[in-house]
Amino acid sequence: MAGTMVAERPAPAPDRETVGRPTVAVLGATGLVGRTMLEVLLERRFPAGEIRALASARSAGSTMSVDGRSFPVTEATPDAFEGVDLALFSAGAELSRLLAPEAVKRGAVVIDNSAAWRMEPGVPLVVSQVNPEDLAAHKGIIANPNCSTMQLAPLLAALRDEVGLRRVIVDTYQSVSGTGSDAVDEMEAQIRAHVAGAPKSAAVYPHPIAFNAIPEIDVFMDDGYTKEEWKVTAESRKILHAPDLAISCTAVRIPVLVSHSEAVHAETERPISPDEARELFAAVPGVEVVDEPEAHRYPLATEAAGRDVILVGRIRRDVSLPDGRGLAFWVVSDNLRKGAATNAVELAEILLARGWL
Ligand SMILES: NC(=O)c1ccc[n+]([C@@H]2O[C@H](COP(=O)([O-])OP(=O)(O)OC[C@H]3O[C@@H](n4cnc5c(N)ncnc54)[C@H](OP(=O)(O)O)[C@@H]3O)[C@@H](O)[C@H]2O)c1
Repeated sequence: MAGTMVAERPAPAPDRETVGRPTVAVLGATGLVGRTMLEVLLERRFPAGEIRALASARSAGSTMSVDGRSFPVTEATPDAFEGVDLALFSAGAELSRLLAPEAVKRGAVVIDNSAAWRMEPGVPLVVSQVNPEDLAAHKGIIANPNCSTMQLAPLLAALRDEVGLRRVIVDTYQSVSGTGSDAVDEMEAQIRAHVAGAPKSAAVYPHPIAFNAIPEIDVFMDDGYTKEEWKVTAESRKILHAPDLAISCTAVRIPVLVSHSEAVHAETERPISPDEARELFAAVPGVEVVDEPEAHRYPLATEAAGRDVILVGRIRRDVSLPDGRGLAFWVVSDNLRKGAATNAVELAEILLARGWL
């Protein structure tokens, strides 16, 4: 009808609630960890003024929906960090090396989830409940530990403080989501091929991961260990401030979707009984003891998935060590949450609360 006028909506008034709140960017937002970062930021009501979702040119222009909220995806360029106070990085080491200094130059604090900066002297490598005070010395870049190290460190820290740590042997059973979304797709395609009686092709891993256990995570090093195994040893020593800790790891990829499991054998300075260890571990923030073997209750990948806790069970004396100075236990945690996104957001919360942002 001619003459009908639609009243123009007034421009929205500045949202008082968001004024003064940090602008947050998530780099790698479309990936498994990045999406989980967005979920965790929303779930924990992180007080962000604005949240920017950044990814590659491939996804720029698309929109992501996370918990009912839409995030336009923009390309991660140096200028995308203009005005950003806090940047959570999760798009691989190469991009972190390139873009973290650019983000810091523009005034952001970067919490990086890749291996790029973890062992750099002067860059704090922090598990929220183990060494949060290390954050105080940050110069713009903070490193989030590798997922396998993350779930181990709070338990080793408790043993170090209570009975002293002499030596640790850890064997990991790591899920495919730890590699990223391509690996999840590849495993699912291999399972479908198996059911259809068709050959399985492998591109992400050197062998089919479906129905397999592959003792090769990251590249092999000169000493025969893989880079993943080296990360567990080097990062644990840095986080625990224990540069001489004797520690050895075998890292294995298994066909589990989410959550890494670890068999740990710890030799301690002083004796500790399984009951004392259960009590000690149960008191660690973010750790839950699940240890009723007679009822078939122990940590399971499927039960840890989607949760932020580190589950520990199968706690027993290591009979290969004398005088009760050794423990064996089984640790399971969601590699996308505590192993990556949740710890990053916890570090951001600490920075904000202590005025270190
Ligand atoms: N998965 C884990 O459990 C875990 C745990 C700890 C640490 N990490 C680390 O977290 C990082 C990401 O892992 P993920 O599992 O989330 O991988 P993913 O699912 O493969 O996602 C990769 C993300 O990086 C983005 N990206 C790739 N190349 C890019 C480029 N040139 N420019 C901008 N963005 C780019 C992708 O964007 P597009 O969608 O546009 O390609 C996507 O958002 C890795 O450094 C990994 O080592 C992973």
